[in-house]
Amino acid sequence: MLLELAGTKKVLFIGGKGGVGKTSVASALAVHQARAGKRVLVVSTDPAHNLGHLWGRRVGDKVVSLAPGVSGLEIDPARTTDEHLAAVGHTMRRLMPEHLSGEVAKHLELARDAPGTHEAAILERIADVLETTLGDHDLVVFDTAPSGHTARLMSLPETMSAWTEGLLRRQDRSERFGAALRGLDDGPERGVMGGSRRRDPRAERDHEIRRVLLRRRTRFERLREVISDETRTAFVIVLAAERLPVLETIELHGQLTRAGVRVGGLVVNKRSPADAGHFLAERRTQEDVHLATVRDALPKVPLIELPLLSGDVVGLGGLEKFAAEILRADNQRP
Ligand SMILES: Nc1ncnc2c1ncn2[C@@H]1O[C@H](COP(=O)(O)OP(=O)(O)OP(=O)(O)O)[C@@H](O)[C@H]1O
Ligand SMILES: [Mg+2]
Repeated sequence: MLLELAGTKKVLFIGGKGGVGKTSVASALAVHQARAGKRVLVVSTDPAHNLGHLWGRRVGDKVVSLAPGVSGLEIDPARTTDEHLAAVGHTMRRLMPEHLSGEVAKHLELARDAPGTHEAAILERIADVLETTLGDHDLVVFDTAPSGHTARLMSLPETMSAWTEGLLRRQDRSERFGAALRGLDDGPERGVMGGSRRRDPRAERDHEIRRVLLRRRTRFERLREVISDETRTAFVIVLAAERLPVLETIELHGQLTRAGVRVGGLVVNKRSPADAGHFLAERRTQEDVHLATVRDALPKVPLIELPLLSGDVVGLGGLEKFAAEILRADNQRP
C-alpha cells in the first residue's frame, strides 16, 4: 500500500502527531523509491526540523543531496517571511511618498508577527517548492508538522484564495472610484497637452497591487489543485497504537477530508512485539484495542503496521532497514 502510493503518486504528504515516525517514514520511502531509479525530494515543513538529525548532516532551506537519488530541503518560514516582507516593502516604498517610509517600516514590522503570517509563508513556500522542483523530481515527499497545524495548512489555499478574491474585488471598486474621481479632478485640463501627461502614480500603485494579488491567487489555486488531485497526491497519516494518537488520527482524517484532501493510507508505527517478554506482550494487547478503534472509525483507509525496532532509525543504513520493514508490512497486507 505505502510503496504503491510512493510508486504511483508525484506528491506525498506525511502527517501525524509528534514523534510517531513521520520523518523516518518519509525518508525511508524516499530511499526505497531512489533504489528503484527515481529522483526523490524530501521536504520538511515543520519549523522544528529533524530531517538533518535523521540523516546526520545539515539540511537547510536549499536542496541538498542526501543519498544517490534522494535530496532534502527544510523550509525556513522565517526566511520566507523576511523575503516576502522585503519585497512588499520595496514595492510600497517605491509607490508611497518619501515622508511615509517610516510608517511603511513600522507596518511591516507589525506584519511579521501578525497571526497567519507564518502559516501563509510556509504555504507560499510549499507552493513555490512544488512549482520549482516537480520538474526535476519524480516524487516530492512532504514531512509535515504535527497534526493540527497541517490540517489547517491543507485548507489554507482555499481560505487564502477567497481572501485574495475579496481584496481584488475591493480593489476593483476603489480603482473605478479613483478613476472616476481623477476624471472629475483632471477634467478641465484633459487633452490640453495633447495626451502626453505623466502616468498617474495612484493608478500605477493600484496596478501593482493588483498584479501582486493576482500572482498570489494563481499560486494558491495551483497548490489547491495539486493537493486535492487524487491521481497525483496522497496524504499518509503515521500514528502509534496509543489512545491519543488514535483519537488525533481520526480527527485529522476528518479535517483533511473536509478540506478535500484524500487520506491514502495509515501507518501504525512502533508496534510492540508479542514474543519478547510479558511486559511488551501486554503492551501489544493494549495496542490491539486502540488499533481496533482506528479500523472501526476508518474502515476504508488502507493500513499497515510497522514493528518497534530495537534501535533508532538513523542514517542511510537505518533507513534501508526501515524501508525493508515497510516492504514486508506492505506484502503482508491482506
Ligand atoms: N519503528 C520504530 N522503531 C524504533 N524507533 C523508531 C521507529 N520509528 C521511529 N523511531 C524513532 O522514533 C523517533 C521519532 O521518529 P521521527 O523523528 O521519524 O518522528 P517524527 O514524527 O518525525 O517526530 P517529530 O514530530 O518530532 O518530527 C526517532 O528517534 C526514530 O529513530
Ligand atoms: Mg519529524
